[in-house]
Amino acid sequence: MLMGSWWIFFTVICLISISPFPPSDGYDPLDPHGNVTIKWDIMQANGDSFDVSVSVLNFQLFRHFAPPGWRLSWDWVGKEVIWGMWGAEATLQGDCSRFTGGQIPHSCEKRPVIVDLLPGTPYNKQVANCCKGGVLSSLNQDPTKQGAAFQMNVGASTAGGPNFTMAQNFTLGLDGYTCGTPHEVPPSRFTSDGGRRWTQALGTWNVTCVYSQFRASPNPKCCVSLSAFYNSTIISCPKCSCNCQSLPGSKCLRDGEVVPLLQMPHDPTEDLPDLVRCSDHMCPIRVHWHIKQSYKAYWRVKITITNLNVVRNYTEWNLVVQHPNLQSLTQVFSFNYRPLNLHGYLNDTGMFWGIKYYNDMLLQSGEEGNVQTEILMSKEPSVFTFQEGWAFPRKISFNGDECVMPPPDDYPRLPNAAMARKQSILSLSLFMTIVLIPLVLPVGLNHFLDYT
Ligand SMILES: *[C@@H]1O[C@H](CO)[C@@H](O)[C@H](O)[C@H]1NC(C)=O
Ligand SMILES: *[C@@H]1O[C@H](CO)[C@@H](O)[C@H](O)[C@H]1NC(C)=O
Ligand SMILES: *[C@@H]1O[C@H](CO)[C@@H](O)[C@H](O)[C@H]1NC(C)=O
Ligand SMILES: *[C@@H]1O[C@H](CO)[C@@H](O)[C@H](O)[C@H]1NC(C)=O
Ligand SMILES: *[C@@H]1O[C@H](CO)[C@@H](O)[C@H](O)[C@H]1NC(C)=O
Ligand SMILES: *[C@@H]1O[C@H](CO)[C@@H](O)[C@H](O)[C@H]1NC(C)=O
Ligand SMILES: *[C@@H]1O[C@H](CO)[C@@H](O)[C@H](O)[C@H]1NC(C)=O
Repeated sequence: MLMGSWWIFFTVICLISISPFPPSDGYDPLDPHGNVTIKWDIMQANGDSFDVSVSVLNFQLFRHFAPPGWRLSWDWVGKEVIWGMWGAEATLQGDCSRFTGGQIPHSCEKRPVIVDLLPGTPYNKQVANCCKGGVLSSLNQDPTKQGAAFQMNVGASTAGGPNFTMAQNFTLGLDGYTCGTPHEVPPSRFTSDGGRRWTQALGTWNVTCVYSQFRASPNPKCCVSLSAFYNSTIISCPKCSCNCQSLPGSKCLRDGEVVPLLQMPHDPTEDLPDLVRCSDHMCPIRVHWHIKQSYKAYWRVKITITNLNVVRNYTEWNLVVQHPNLQSLTQVFSFNYRPLNLHGYLNDTGMFWGIKYYNDMLLQSGEEGNVQTEILMSKEPSVFTFQEGWAFPRKISFNGDECVMPPPDDYPRLPNAAMARKQSILSLSLFMTIVLIPLVLPVGLNHFLDYT
């Protein structure tokens, strides 16, 4: 019964903290406007071909493209071919047999797959903003690396025809992203001669792509475990958070086993499937939140991120944490931090990421597979408490994917919990009278009306 009321308490808290947000147009309430925009600029028409400049811009606050990065693809509507490409390349040349003699196109694929060139590509194949191996940073982590660009020369669909038909069905080649239809927008403008002259594209199209965690994978990728200095119990990740060992088809690496060499030939531009160490939760990432110390005016939390994936290094990883005390964050050790002021008045959410060349890479399990920080927050006398699990995070996501939390009933309790519980039941019943009854009544009434 007590467990039940804990649940209600937390559900109500969640409802209250979510309701003031406007309905979001994206999929993620923590980054409601986040999107990836593909910009397609027709720069020049040369009789029967066009010069096109394409950029991929990551407008997401905390999601980035990790290696092997984006693999942009589209359908040509007519019989277009790519004669040349700079700053990127098509993975397949395809069947160019209809071009006999003279120049052979770069790609004749009906649906070309374009990958970024690697850093260090010869200068004559580069264009500005290219050659990052498909890797793009998030807006918060490194805004100077949030865009990629390449150029191509495209043969028009009707030989000699002056018209260009916009390509369709764009994909980024990354799990979880879906792209909308291209929209013609006012032409991009470019400046030269120190701003004294402006030129513009012949035509510009935008394609907007959005991410959905559920579409990326029905299974979560991360879970949270908890502990506190005042209780010796460590609350581990919930069983089967990401998968179950007993499920048919689930694979994991037992202690002592060696990582199998890749059996199948592996395309370096494609991503590898995860392989995790065997555990009850089967997640590739575990985030541990430990309430380490309490001072007079401050309290200290230690956050440890552990990589249990034996085949992946997480480069430029990030962690988004929601906790009401983050608005009084005083000090962060060995991570970068930036508040995500989503709700304007309430900065209870922030983003942590590694320090470049120090811990911005979370190495594969078996190497130094963890990174950690300690954070110091000042106790706001009006709200701070170690009771009711208040000191534990409300929400954590790793690389933009939400982590599975233990159920609130299991949170480590203060030793004098008996006292605390009595108080909580009192305040809970008061709380329920004030908050729940008005919530429940209209629902009940609706049901009643449905049946009459
Ligand atoms: C994509 O994000 C940018 C930057 O936040 C924003 O200006 C733009 O309106 C967004 N596009 C869409 C279609 O939501
Ligand atoms: C785009 O995709 C749709 C659905 O798969 C398909 O019917 C259509 O032919 C594609 N467009 C082009 C130009 O190939
Ligand atoms: C080019 O487009 C214009 C207007 O969109 C149209 O009137 C014209 O017939 C097109 N020409 C060709 C060769 O497709
Ligand atoms: C098209 O995308 C660019 C970013 O590349 C953005 O600045 C512009 O506002 C977008 N246009 C529209 C109409 O969404
Ligand atoms: C991860 O990084 C380590 C050290 O840089 C390297 O030895 C290892 O091959 C990398 N693993 C993968 C899967 O890239
Ligand atoms: C919270 O927001 C306020 C006002 O926007 C800002 O002054 C303060 O630094 C923020 N605190 C933290 C820890 O981000
Ligand atoms: C520690 O927390 C657990 C889980 O809530 C609880 O069952 C246990 O009684 C607590 N231990 C002490 C010493 O209070």
